[in-house]
Amino acid sequence: MISVEKLTFTYPHQEAALFEDLSLTIPDHQWVAIVGRNGSGKSTLARLIAGLLPTPAGTITVNGLPVDEDHLAALHQQLGFVFQNPDNQFVGATVADDVAFGLENRRVAPQKMPTIIERALAQVRMTPFKAARPEELSGGQKQRVALAGALALKPAVLILDEATSMLDPQGRGEVLSQLASLRQQGELTIISITHDPAEVALADQVIVLDQGQVRRQDSPERVLTDVALVEAVGLVQPFALRLKAALQAQGVAVPATITTEGELVQWLNQQLNTRG
Ligand SMILES: Nc1ncnc2c1ncn2[C@@H]1O[C@H](COP(=O)(O)OP(=O)(O)OP(=O)(O)O)[C@@H](O)[C@H]1O
Ligand SMILES: [Mg+2]
Repeated sequence: MISVEKLTFTYPHQEAALFEDLSLTIPDHQWVAIVGRNGSGKSTLARLIAGLLPTPAGTITVNGLPVDEDHLAALHQQLGFVFQNPDNQFVGATVADDVAFGLENRRVAPQKMPTIIERALAQVRMTPFKAARPEELSGGQKQRVALAGALALKPAVLILDEATSMLDPQGRGEVLSQLASLRQQGELTIISITHDPAEVALADQVIVLDQGQVRRQDSPERVLTDVALVEAVGLVQPFALRLKAALQAQGVAVPATITTEGELVQWLNQQLNTRG
């Protein structure tokens, strides 16, 4: 579990606090999406949880470990972090080297590395690029390598800060379903910071950040169907929900239980068949 209690944080040389008395809880083995407008504090919160910023006032614990200077090494054993910009994350000479780098830092035995690297690259479908150099890869491919590097370390908590925003729809879908299945196996707590409604819909819970406060922590269904909230925090509703609302506005009585594109297509198809 990740617990944030009465967190107060001000960036150095800034007048105003970004967070004041912020409290929230992220349960184990859940996928929690963090959403909010640009500048609402999502990345800062993630960095504070990962101990990448000066220790703030208040208490943050990750699986019981206090996030402070004394516990950083143990904390970093628990956490994987993938950022938005793939170029700042690639440190190896090749794809395989890049994944190996994190393993070397953890002092994983060299003879164990090839198997771990193979598996991590397969998870993100980058096996054919094992020997490629970073300059030969697209941004999305580098991003998959970053994800492989994080997964290879078997973190308890994986933090993705807009990590899929550079992937094409197919790549994004593959990575997200891979993450969903890891989470299903009960191995991983996922915190994904995103502006993508499809990614939000996959989560177990959504935390809506607004001006340094939690405006809502709720299920994706309840957040995404709250049109005023969705607009206020700069999201858009998923396509299926927008189409459903447009149909309802035309007097088509789409049942409330229908929330996905597949369900909507099936329902529309049934309506057409019963009429025809
Ligand atoms: N290093 C820094 N020094 C001072 N202020 C900062 C620093 N980094 C971020 N900020 C400020 O803190 C606030 C929150 O920034 P943060 O990057 O956490 O937002 P965000 O929700 O991740 O936004 P985005 O959706 O654009 O990624 C912003 O007002 C930003 O200008
Ligand atoms: Mg950010």
